Amino acid sequence: MDWDQLELNPKVITAVKKAKLKSIKEVLHLSGPDLQRLTKLSIIDVQHLLKTVSLALRNNCVLTALQIYQQKEEFPVQHKKLGFGCSILNRLLRGGLPLVGISELVGQSSAGKTQIGLQLSLCVQYPYEYGGLESGVIYICTEDVFPDKRLQQLIALQHQLRTDVPGEIIKKIKFGNSIFIEHVADIDTLFECIAKRAPILLSRGMVRLIIIDSIAALFRCEFGIQQSITKAKYLQTLGAKLYQLSSGFQSPVLCINQITSTVDERGLAGTNMDVLEKVSPALGITWSNQLLMRLMVSRPSYEFSRDTDASTTGTVIRTLSVIFAPHLPQSCCHYIVNAEGVKGIE
Ligand SMILES: Nc1ncnc2c1ncn2[C@@H]1O[C@H](COP(=O)(O)OP(=O)(O)O)[C@@H](O)[C@H]1O
Ligand SMILES: [Mg+2]
Repeated sequence: MDWDQLELNPKVITAVKKAKLKSIKEVLHLSGPDLQRLTKLSIIDVQHLLKTVSLALRNNCVLTALQIYQQKEEFPVQHKKLGFGCSILNRLLRGGLPLVGISELVGQSSAGKTQIGLQLSLCVQYPYEYGGLESGVIYICTEDVFPDKRLQQLIALQHQLRTDVPGEIIKKIKFGNSIFIEHVADIDTLFECIAKRAPILLSRGMVRLIIIDSIAALFRCEFGIQQSITKAKYLQTLGAKLYQLSSGFQSPVLCINQITSTVDERGLAGTNMDVLEKVSPALGITWSNQLLMRLMVSRPSYEFSRDTDASTTGTVIRTLSVIFAPHLPQSCCHYIVNAEGVKGIE
């Protein structure tokens, strides 16, 4: 800590340095009398020191609307988002995924959940000004193998998808080096990954996004109806641990889950708003309570989607809906998946 940067009397700064106090944390860990004893300062000087270091930590957390409007970089951290690499999707989500909290992406098979997960794995690596977090991702796969080939295709076509970013910036990013893939087959391995490996990567700044594709798959296999209380306890612990990582490292957590039943196929083909009420959360209310927001993706009903031509050319029109979020209304937008990735359409 460079004490000279704080607005402190030179006498106090000298005393702090002499007492070998190296950080704000060390100062705040000591009681007033202890500080007095260590620094040999008066009680008034010690109180002033404590007040000044606390203010330095708070770091202008109150901003006026005009300040926010004029200086984007000072936007409070709780309003920063991880962009989706598409202006239409970002508009729906007011910028993207909030940095703190667990977001869930649900949808039927082939709706495009993994494609969105892959796209976010690349978006997170971009500079802040392009919606990224200048860091990598830990991508935890459970049921399916990580789609490596598809990832390589997306990386190769980033310049076509991200026309908002100058080509030389895209070329400089080594996308493949910052995607840490973990395959977990059971709940214990998932917990180990979250408790041990993820914190190491996060604390070193190598990763600022956690994606789990998917949690429901693990819980479906391991718990029967009789063990629902144990299952709820596991989910609670998992949610708490993930939230702790998210808030401690200001890193979003995205959990991808499939919905298997109770979704009306006709609803999926329509505007989607009528589907919102029909979704039953795959992991029950305990899990829903851990979430900051839930998004849902859907694609047209089976008869439409059998058109494989449409599927590969990206003309299958899919829907991304906000089911719940504290800062967003229930709303939706349409998107397509093509070779370059996920793109919203007007
Ligand atoms: N290279 C590609 N070009 C065009 N579309 C693709 C490509 N790869 C995957 N898709 C589309 O993505 C869909 C699969 O999405 P995915 O995210 O894997 O589904 P899920 O929701 O089950 O995770 C397929 O229906 C396919 O249309
Ligand atoms: Mg998938």
